[in-house]
Amino acid sequence: MKIAVFAGDGIGPEVTAQAVRVLNALAIDGLEMVEGDVGGAAYYKHGHPLPEATLEIARNVDGILFGAVGDFSCDHLERALRPEQAILGLRKALSLFANLRPAKLFAGMEGFSALRPEVASAIDLLIVRELNGDVYFGEKGMRKTEDGRRQGWDMMSYAEDEVRRIAHEGFKAAQKRGGKLCSVDKANVLETSQLWRDVVIEVSAEYPDVELSHMYVDNAAMQLVKSPGQFDVIVTGNLFGDILSDQASMCVGSIGLLASASLGTRQTEYGTVGLYEPIHGSAPDIAGQNKANPMATILSAAMLLRHSLGLGEQADRIEAAVAKALADGIRGGDLGGNASTSEIGDAVLARL
Ligand code: NAD
Ligand code: IPM
Ligand code: MN
Repeated sequence: MKIAVFAGDGIGPEVTAQAVRVLNALAIDGLEMVEGDVGGAAYYKHGHPLPEATLEIARNVDGILFGAVGDFSCDHLERALRPEQAILGLRKALSLFANLRPAKLFAGMEGFSALRPEVASAIDLLIVRELNGDVYFGEKGMRKTEDGRRQGWDMMSYAEDEVRRIAHEGFKAAQKRGGKLCSVDKANVLETSQLWRDVVIEVSAEYPDVELSHMYVDNAAMQLVKSPGQFDVIVTGNLFGDILSDQASMCVGSIGLLASASLGTRQTEYGTVGLYEPIHGSAPDIAGQNKANPMATILSAAMLLRHSLGLGEQADRIEAAVAKALADGIRGGDLGGNASTSEIGDAVLARL
């Protein structure tokens, strides 16, 4: 079993270090870890945010633990050289099209949600976000119009096969959970979304046991704070899923708690090859201060064990240890406490 650790920028190295400590503590027989450079760190070292050597590692491992990328000092670079291209490039190169972002309120965390406790306590949802298409990967550009105005554009599109495969993931996830799937789109305005909705309805014929509903994304944003308990699985496009998942994180307390798995179709003898990362970014405002909450990354490592290495029991152990640390009052700055990144790592390790 071989996994890659791509720590990246900002708080990325700090939070992945804690997740690696947790993985090491499990002393998994035959587990090998290799490191690779991504993001701004890779740009400054090799001149590219996703060097060929890193891609080579990525193509030859069973799973990838990813920290975060993003460095404001690179924001002036041409887009192809910006740190964010590392994560976008890995998702595309490995065809990791299904991004699973679970949001569940941990026991005792009602008071930390941005929502009222009685509203927050009902949250147990999964966002299934499409990750290889949409406005993220369409043709884009910037130009001067004939009358001298600057214009920027990004082409939004989905082809039916792209919608079909993520719809299947949404339905299958719903079958394993509460049996409800809400497809989120903007079909009242966008052709991309009309196709999305049509295809999701077609696919639903294969899943008579799943209760399908549709919601416009603006309403979904509202419903997510009004009554998030109504959602089981949400399936949506790349951009809407990005935005709604950050919103969901504050409904359960903090962005420092939300993990994710990005999966494709490649199987190994252990599981599905995937990339695992917290949903947050490089948090430059707190980077290098031992302040970031590593729980989202630690929980991402648990997802890696479950989905890519077939080690569900070890994943359960990690998740239980994080839940216990929270129940015992261990809080990072994101939750109004003062536990440092490494102290949170210590606390999880002690409860493994
Ligand atoms: P961000 O998620 O990095 O930070 C948003 C806010 O949340 C900040 O106040 C930050 O301090 C806080 N925060 C985030 N993670 C935290 C944690 N683990 N513990 C405590 N607080 C935490 O989003 P941003 O500020 O919009 O973006 C910063 C950079 O990260 C940008 O360059 C952006 O492109 C990049 N980014 C990368 C990823 C990724 O690598 N997948 C994801 C999102 C943003
Ligand atoms: C995320 C991030 C990325 C995205 C950026 C950094 C490209 O926001 O993983 O949620 O938009 O997908
Ligand atoms: Mn995001």
